[in-house]
Amino acid sequence: MELEQHQSSEGSFLDTSLDIDPVSDAIGAEIKGIDLALINDQTFAAIHAAWLKYNVLLFRDQTISDSDLVAFSRRFGELDESPPNENGVMSVPGLPEILILSNVIENGVAIGSLGNEECIWHTDMNYNERPPMGSALFALEVPPKGGNTGFLNMYRAFDALPVELHRKIERLTIKHDSTTNSAGFRRVGSEEVGDIRTSPGAIHPIIRTHPETKRKALYLGRRRYAYIPGLSLEDSEVLLDEIWAHTTQEQFYWHHKWRAGDIVVWDNRCTMHRRDDFPQSSRRIMHRTQIKGDQPH
Ligand code: OGA
Ligand code: MN
Repeated sequence: MELEQHQSSEGSFLDTSLDIDPVSDAIGAEIKGIDLALINDQTFAAIHAAWLKYNVLLFRDQTISDSDLVAFSRRFGELDESPPNENGVMSVPGLPEILILSNVIENGVAIGSLGNEECIWHTDMNYNERPPMGSALFALEVPPKGGNTGFLNMYRAFDALPVELHRKIERLTIKHDSTTNSAGFRRVGSEEVGDIRTSPGAIHPIIRTHPETKRKALYLGRRRYAYIPGLSLEDSEVLLDEIWAHTTQEQFYWHHKWRAGDIVVWDNRCTMHRRDDFPQSSRRIMHRTQIKGDQPH
């Protein structure tokens, strides 16, 4: 618990501290005893500070409405509208800021994106020039088994780079593939990838500095169809495999087992995430917002 006391108008001390409980040694903390529909600016400031420190925050037993989810998310920054996915744009009617992730099919039509597939380690949308700063994911229905989401601490992965690997990647960039999403589906309107050296997607440094904490972090997108400009295809593949093998070590990540009512907010500038698959016979419905970000450097 982090203590932070404030004097009330009667002169007594009010305890407005957050109850913060780290969820693993690698990354993440649960903030307990908070209804996200009811927070004030002061509580949000404490939440924001905890977010920068722990990179992923978990709030359980939330019952907030979609518009409260939008209002809470907007405290972090301006929101993106739902990006198109393999089934087109799948947002909540009237709330373009909320993307539905789901495997549920109603009358033969998918109600959301990503299906029941595994999603490989990735950061969101860094095939764009200005990838999102972060996202909030609200669990409405979750499967009894599977569908857990892992979060990886990219500061830690950077700090633990072997000297030789650090030296090799210091000045390099990655071209991030914009055609395929983390579940392996081709995005609506994308062509099949021919040559990964010339296929579309933004180029960003492999090592970035977080604009708020000023700490350095590895910045990877998806392994699939990534390419390091300036290297031969073969050298790029070998080096990318080496970077991924280093980064995806167990010591850097934590997996969250969802309960309905959970909200998880991650900092997309210093984390990666992945998702386990789950049986198509169970239902998973998640509502998600995405906060706009700046160009990484
Ligand atoms: C995402 C994502 C994983 C999940 O929302 O960007 O990758 O657990 N979601 O649904
Ligand atoms: Mn994602």
